[in-house]
Amino acid sequence: METNRIQAVRGMSDVLPDTCAAYRAVENQLHTCFEQFGYRPINVPLVEHTDLYLRKSGEEIVTRMYDFVYQNRRLCLRPEMTASIIRAYIDHLEEQTPLPMRLYYGGAVFRYERPQRERYRQFSQVGVELLGSAGPMADAEVIWTACRGLNQLGLSNYRVVIGHIGVLAKFLEGLQLGSRLQNLLLASTDLLRSENGRLKVAQKLQEIYPDYLPTQDSPSSPEQEGQLDKLVTLFQHLNDADAKAAILELLGSLNVNLKGSRSPEEIASRLLEKIHRQNRIPLIDKALEFMTELSVLEGEPFKVLEQGKELLPRYGIDTAPLEELRSIVEVLKLYDLDWSQVSLDLGLSRGLQYYTGTIFEIHHGALGGERQLCGGGRYDELVTTLGGNQRTPATGFSFGLERVCVALESEGHFKVGSHLHFDAFVIALDSERHGYAISVAEQLRNYGLNIELAIRERSVSKNFQYAEKQHFPFVIVVGADELAQSVVTLRSQAKQAGQRLTVAEAAQQILSFRTEAMS
Ligand code: HAM
Repeated sequence: METNRIQAVRGMSDVLPDTCAAYRAVENQLHTCFEQFGYRPINVPLVEHTDLYLRKSGEEIVTRMYDFVYQNRRLCLRPEMTASIIRAYIDHLEEQTPLPMRLYYGGAVFRYERPQRERYRQFSQVGVELLGSAGPMADAEVIWTACRGLNQLGLSNYRVVIGHIGVLAKFLEGLQLGSRLQNLLLASTDLLRSENGRLKVAQKLQEIYPDYLPTQDSPSSPEQEGQLDKLVTLFQHLNDADAKAAILELLGSLNVNLKGSRSPEEIASRLLEKIHRQNRIPLIDKALEFMTELSVLEGEPFKVLEQGKELLPRYGIDTAPLEELRSIVEVLKLYDLDWSQVSLDLGLSRGLQYYTGTIFEIHHGALGGERQLCGGGRYDELVTTLGGNQRTPATGFSFGLERVCVALESEGHFKVGSHLHFDAFVIALDSERHGYAISVAEQLRNYGLNIELAIRERSVSKNFQYAEKQHFPFVIVVGADELAQSVVTLRSQAKQAGQRLTVAEAAQQILSFRTEAMS
């Protein structure tokens, strides 16, 4: 059937009143927890210059941004909060604030993702950024803050996974595989851990890198490929410009009969690309070999640190990150954390590229494929990358609020419908008494009560029906008699009985009912 309704945008949800109140209660509890650690609230705009996020957020986020040109300015909807917070810090706080500075926030972020369970295009992040402290005390405190927040919400079946950007990401960066290949490998640790993991990763690699495994659908003839293969070895060690010039010269001077429709320019470019790819194959194998060994190193932190100390030197990787991690887990042990919930994963990677040190995630089983309900880590270069004057070490994390709520619901701690308290509904018996009804409602609100006033022109019985449907525990009726005696009729819906009281007496009754109901 034709309809002129306008639908919500795909991947973006309406949050209806009861759920909205429950979300807000969770967010407020997290904010209270952050304040207990000395964090101060900050709010930043939803719209930023795209450039802010192009600088250091990395391909994974940048390709998913809501990015547009408006009045000749390239703008975006913020895909996360950290870069915005740092921009605001540089703009307003860097010069005058003593460090460390602790900031917390909550708000909507936007990512153009393929919508699926627990993955939205608009979602809420609640998190903290701790600026100006480099040591393990800061890293451990930030990790603990996230855990304490979850504990205070009542969540228990979560897992904290800690890693370091200086292990896998630095190793892959050193291999110079190009960002696409590097990102694909970084995102493959979990796949490697699955059954036939290496084969599955090889297949994934082949999608963007057809030469990685022998492939049947080469666009050139086998004869032509054979000729190309021989040429590849000749130019492997030249730079791109020299190699291309040499290939063209050689093709010209040899008068090679290249059947097919490609021009010498195209052939030279193809050949060059092939050289690049062939040069990379042993590097990819090396990366996969390291990753396969690394993927087993996940579990009890101190055990993994020992295993890492043995593995990293074999691949020429600096063991300093392991020492950093050791100091952090040693401090973390001083907190009241259930150690069986903590693991070290030296293969952990994060989608954002500003991280420089320790990284961590918090996972929860109820989330299925999208098991991550929190992510964070250290990013010591972002302040200077975004134009700050001082190098300012920093670390932080963000919760995905919707995912936290799904996890809470799975453990029976997300109570929809229990956060809104409407204490009484005030009805004037006739329009002459509207002034008195308004005054009574206002006086009751001054006692901190939530009072709704009957504002529609409808009969008293209709108003009573409405009060029943909305589950008001009390109805207050005011008519000519009540006005004359400066009282109200307070009717308890549960007892189905009314009594005449002063406003102050009515307020006390409603307040004690509320206290009892909430205890
Ligand atoms: P992130 O891991 O990209 O980190 O996002 C943080 C959290 O947002 C995730 O752990 C997840 O719970 C939630 N999230 C991410 N994408 C979606 C989605 N499409 N739908 C629902 N929830 C989602 C950051 O954004 C960093 N700024 C965290 C940080 C703060 N690092 C340092 N400081």
